[in-house]
Amino acid sequence: MLPSELTKKITFSRGIRDGDLVIVYERHDIMKAVKVCESSVFQNRFGVFKHSDWIGKPFGSKVFNSKGRFVYLLAPTPELWTLVLSHRTQILYLADISFVIMYLEIVPGCVVLESGTGSGSLTTSLARAVAPTGHVYTFDFHEQRAESAREDFERTGVSSLVTVGVRDIQGEGFPDQFSGLADSVFLDLPQPWLAIPSAGKMLKQDGVLCSFSPCIEQVQRACETLRSNFTDIRTFEVLLRTYEVREGKMDYCQDDDLASVGNIPCKRKLSSNEGSNLQKNPSCPPIIARPCGEARGHTGYLTFARLKCFQ
Ligand SMILES: C[S@@+](CC[C@H](N)C(=O)[O-])C[C@H]1O[C@@H](n2cnc3c(N)ncnc32)[C@H](O)[C@@H]1O
Repeated sequence: MLPSELTKKITFSRGIRDGDLVIVYERHDIMKAVKVCESSVFQNRFGVFKHSDWIGKPFGSKVFNSKGRFVYLLAPTPELWTLVLSHRTQILYLADISFVIMYLEIVPGCVVLESGTGSGSLTTSLARAVAPTGHVYTFDFHEQRAESAREDFERTGVSSLVTVGVRDIQGEGFPDQFSGLADSVFLDLPQPWLAIPSAGKMLKQDGVLCSFSPCIEQVQRACETLRSNFTDIRTFEVLLRTYEVREGKMDYCQDDDLASVGNIPCKRKLSSNEGSNLQKNPSCPPIIARPCGEARGHTGYLTFARLKCFQ
C-alpha cells in the first residue's frame, strides 16, 4: 500500500460504506461505536435510524430518522475511539496520551515498541502519530486481549500500522529482532522495572522510554532501574480540569457577595459594568463558567527517560 493511501485511510475523507465503523454521536457524553450494515437499524431514545440512509454520506454528517430526530455520524478517530472502546483493561485517556506522544517525540516514520497492549487505547493514537511510514509493535501476554486488539485495529483502520504480538515482556523482554531499532518504547506493565533493561537494548541512540504506573511505589522502583542506563529521568502526573461554560440564570448579588447560580458559586463576580449592562438588558443571560463535576482525577504517573549515550 502506498503511504498516500494509508494517510487517506485514517483521515476518513470519504463517504461512509457498508461495513464501516462509525461513532454515533448524540451528546459529548452519549456516543456509541456502530458497524454499518445496510440491512440493520440503530435504535436510541429518539427512535429508529436506518443504516441504509447513512451509506454514501460523508463522515461528520447529521442524519435524521422518520420522526425528524437526528444524530451525527463521526469517524472513529483515536480521540473518539478512546471514549467508546470496550474496556478490557484500564486504559490511557486523552490527556495522558497527548503528553506521551509529545514527550516520546513520536513523529511520522517512527518505530515504537509498546507493552502491554491492553484495550489498545494508546496504541490507536501511536499508530496515527507514526503514519504513514512508521510502525507500532505492541505486545501483550494475554492472547485473547491481543486478538481483540487486532480486531479493533482492523475496525478503526490502523491495522497496517500496528503489529500485535503475544509475549511476556516482563519475563522475556522484547524480541531481539528490534535491537537498536526503536525510536521510543512505552511500558504500561505492573512491574516495569523487569522490562526496562530490554527496552534499553531496543532503543536507538538517544531514544526515549516512557513508563506509565498508577502507584508511586512502581515509579520509585522503575526509576532505580532506569538510573544505570538512562538519563534525563522525569516523572509527571497529568491532571485535567474541564470547564462547563454556558448561558445561565444568575442570582445577582450585593457588592461583596459572591455571584452564584443556585448554590454553585460562579467562576467570577460580575464587574460593575457587566452588572449595569445586565440591568439595562435583562433578557441577555450571563455566561457562567465552572469546573465540571465529572472531571477525572489521578490516572497514573508518567516516567520518561532518555537512553544514555556511552560513546
Ligand atoms: C493496563 S493494560 C494496558 C492498557 C493500554 N495502555 C491502553 O491504553 O489500552 C496492561 C496490559 O498489560 C498486560 N501485561 C501484564 N503483564 C504483562 C507481561 N508480563 N507481558 C506482556 N503484557 C503484560 C496485561 O495483559 C494488560 O493487557
